[in-house]
Amino acid sequence: MQSARGGILRLVVRRISTPSAAAPLASSKIAAVLPGRVFQLFDLGGGARDYGSVAAAVKSEEAEADLQFQEQPPEKKDEKKDVVVSDYWGILPKKLVDEQGKPWPWNSFRPTEAYAPDLTIDLKKHHNPVSVVDKLAYWTVKTLRIPTDIFFQRRYGCRAMMLETVAGVPGMVGGMLLHCKSLRRFEHSGGWIKALLEEAENERMHLMTFMEVVQPKWYERALVFTVQGVFFNAYFLCYVLFPRLAHRIVGYLEEEAIHSYTQYLKEIDKGTIPNVPAPAIAIDYWRLPKDAKMRDVVEVVRADEAHHRDVNHFAADIHKAGKELRSAAAPLSYH
Ligand SMILES: [Fe+2]
Ligand SMILES: [Fe+2]
Repeated sequence: MQSARGGILRLVVRRISTPSAAAPLASSKIAAVLPGRVFQLFDLGGGARDYGSVAAAVKSEEAEADLQFQEQPPEKKDEKKDVVVSDYWGILPKKLVDEQGKPWPWNSFRPTEAYAPDLTIDLKKHHNPVSVVDKLAYWTVKTLRIPTDIFFQRRYGCRAMMLETVAGVPGMVGGMLLHCKSLRRFEHSGGWIKALLEEAENERMHLMTFMEVVQPKWYERALVFTVQGVFFNAYFLCYVLFPRLAHRIVGYLEEEAIHSYTQYLKEIDKGTIPNVPAPAIAIDYWRLPKDAKMRDVVEVVRADEAHHRDVNHFAADIHKAGKELRSAAAPLSYH
């Protein structure tokens, strides 16, 4: 609250509490108060109104909030009490169902975004580093692998969870920079913005899956925090200055990821890592059988990484040919 004397309006930000979760959103007001008068300056839903008094304003707004509360659909027993439901903005949660007509439990992705990965993809494909740029990318990744191996050793679940926090960054940075470039230059991206953002989202879903079986410790959270701060900025600069190098680095990172997930599978097969039931989110996201196990999840994640490898080496090859990414159709929905 700010106040001033001598004819200067007093600004009041007032929030009226109501039993409805929607009401605070609808009733947040900024008002100018003069003696005995209230002028509402901003109302996100309507124009300026003049109330006769503060009491009248409160009464009017409470009545409005009560009306909105009554217009809410009746709350169901299984819905959480703290869920914000507001029809003020015309946004109401849609009741999604899966292919069998059962309620869809996820808000973060829709049934149409779930997919069955192509497990026939060649896992052994490798880009042979010949040029200086390619060798720089290759040895950067090989060097980064050394401290990673020392830190995680054979804790592949923890390793997967931690590295997915890094793997989700390049697609978002690349997609964001291409988006800004498209705006600046008044030109299409050839679908590459969406392709890279899809990759980032896919990597984040890997993280959401591994989180279900491995919980990060406090020092691992601190490490992720630090690494993200460094890696995001380093990759951002690299992508601005040397986009070909940036994509090639990701291509080689994905090759390493395939190797790590292959080791993970070997440990599961040896019995050193328990083959626990697959998390529910993984079963729905990759359309796995209901009795799928963690081994099935690691297999589909590895296939995803192989697709990311191809996308990023392809992008680097386009740059190597002296072209911009938009000159080639983007591999959309390439999982
Ligand atoms: Fe991943
Ligand atoms: Fe990946």
